[in-house]
Amino acid sequence: MDKLSAAISSTNETDFSPTLKESLFTANSQHQYQALMAQAVEQISQHIRSTDRAFTGISVEALSQQFLQIDLDTPLGQWRPALDELNRLYLNDAVHFHHSDYLAHLNCPVTLPSLVGEAIASALNTAVETWDQSAGATLIEQALIDWTCNKIGWKTLADGVFTSGGSQSNLMAMLLARHRICQQQWQWDPHQQGLPPEANKLRIYTSELSHFSVQKAASMLGLGFDAVVTVKADRFQKMDLHDLTFKLEQASQQGLIPMAIVATAGTTDFGSIDPLHGIAALCESLNIWMHVDAAYGGGLLVSEKFSHKLNGIDRADSVTVDYHKSFFQPVACSGFMVKDASQLGCLTYHAEYLNPLRQQQAGIPDLINKSLQTTRRFDALKLWLTLRVLGAKAIGQGFDQLLHLTRQVYWLLLSHPELEVVHQPQISTLVFRFLPNVGNTADEIDALNLAIQAQLSKQGEAVIAATRYQGRQYLKFTLLNPASDIKAIHNVVHKICHYGHTLQRQPQTL
Ligand SMILES: Cc1ncc(COP(=O)(O)O)c(C=O)c1O
Repeated sequence: MDKLSAAISSTNETDFSPTLKESLFTANSQHQYQALMAQAVEQISQHIRSTDRAFTGISVEALSQQFLQIDLDTPLGQWRPALDELNRLYLNDAVHFHHSDYLAHLNCPVTLPSLVGEAIASALNTAVETWDQSAGATLIEQALIDWTCNKIGWKTLADGVFTSGGSQSNLMAMLLARHRICQQQWQWDPHQQGLPPEANKLRIYTSELSHFSVQKAASMLGLGFDAVVTVKADRFQKMDLHDLTFKLEQASQQGLIPMAIVATAGTTDFGSIDPLHGIAALCESLNIWMHVDAAYGGGLLVSEKFSHKLNGIDRADSVTVDYHKSFFQPVACSGFMVKDASQLGCLTYHAEYLNPLRQQQAGIPDLINKSLQTTRRFDALKLWLTLRVLGAKAIGQGFDQLLHLTRQVYWLLLSHPELEVVHQPQISTLVFRFLPNVGNTADEIDALNLAIQAQLSKQGEAVIAATRYQGRQYLKFTLLNPASDIKAIHNVVHKICHYGHTLQRQPQTL
């Protein structure tokens, strides 16, 4: 028996109750590591094999009940019971994004190379804040940032950094925009001096359909939600340039100072892409920071058929791309890119114990100098392995397939007279509702749609999303699974109609 088999059989047959020292991943524990990982891989594979739905529909109360028996101060001391317990508490009722009945939010199934990347990065526990903690990992992240900048259409001056997600990237964009305007307008350095007295005049413009992280960023930057001016969306759910121009003129009359315009390339609900060239023209003529939130639409950067939808993105000052949405990567994997690398300087703080100035002067790449985070995961590795094994073309083709599938689903929804679809698909979302043709008030129809969504989830039949649009309640599909097909979604649509008709006969209240 080789060492691995021996270790596997020993973990199966005997209790694995190591001391902390024995359980650390070192050369001494490598066989144990292989055995345990093999068991974990077997367990998760078995789970995936036997999973027949996106969600079991378990209630919060029922699942919470199971946690009452857990005493975190009393370890199980053994591997097998701990995994069995995990099955009960987590795996059995987990929400599965790889399942074709999951159609709710911007979550994707993940590539196999990315899972290997996760395992390797976690095993070494690489932290990418400074070169002396990461070496090659720093260069891998930097190469991916350069690659993304290149796809955006930027040349050598551009730079960026991996982040925890679109929210953090959008916050960083607003931070840089605030910094630049304060310097330009008042020769004020918020990095050193905090907010200038006139800061209450700063405004951020974004569509009414943009992500709420813009409002949260404004709040965190000391500007408040009220600093965000929402611009109307047109009938295609894109930022209305007339309204934007009007609001910018209003600002000028009121002595307000536009600090940034946030365009969305792929709104969360509609996948709509704001008019990037039109917004860029305004930003350039008025010297306003242009940020493109392509958290969702970023996948179009590698699309063969639809990359033109992002035309104009290269005119932005900064861009958000969530690889964990449209590049089929595990959470977290996201990037924040800026056209002019020098703008990232406002994120730098040199500390003798970590990233002294002398290191920067010696040309040592400490990624912390451009990041909000200090200790940071090596999230770039999963994307790296995906690109090195599968290639960007495969990711782009997967994304193209989603756009194609979404169009098929659109026609399917239109073929049901009792379903009303709000929009033509732009990327891979569809907003629609069950609209009975007799006798219900608008409020009852709202309640009916929420009841359909709840019923599907409760019965473990499908997980779909809900959203409000123009004051009314709608249902939403988000398609991010290239392995799904129209037949699977046909079943979900059938169930929606079934519950629509059944529940319509029962009074629904909000
Ligand atoms: C358009 C858009 N921007 C930003 C975000 C926030 O991204 P994250 O959840 O990665 O923070 C989302 C999330 O869905 C989004 O849809």
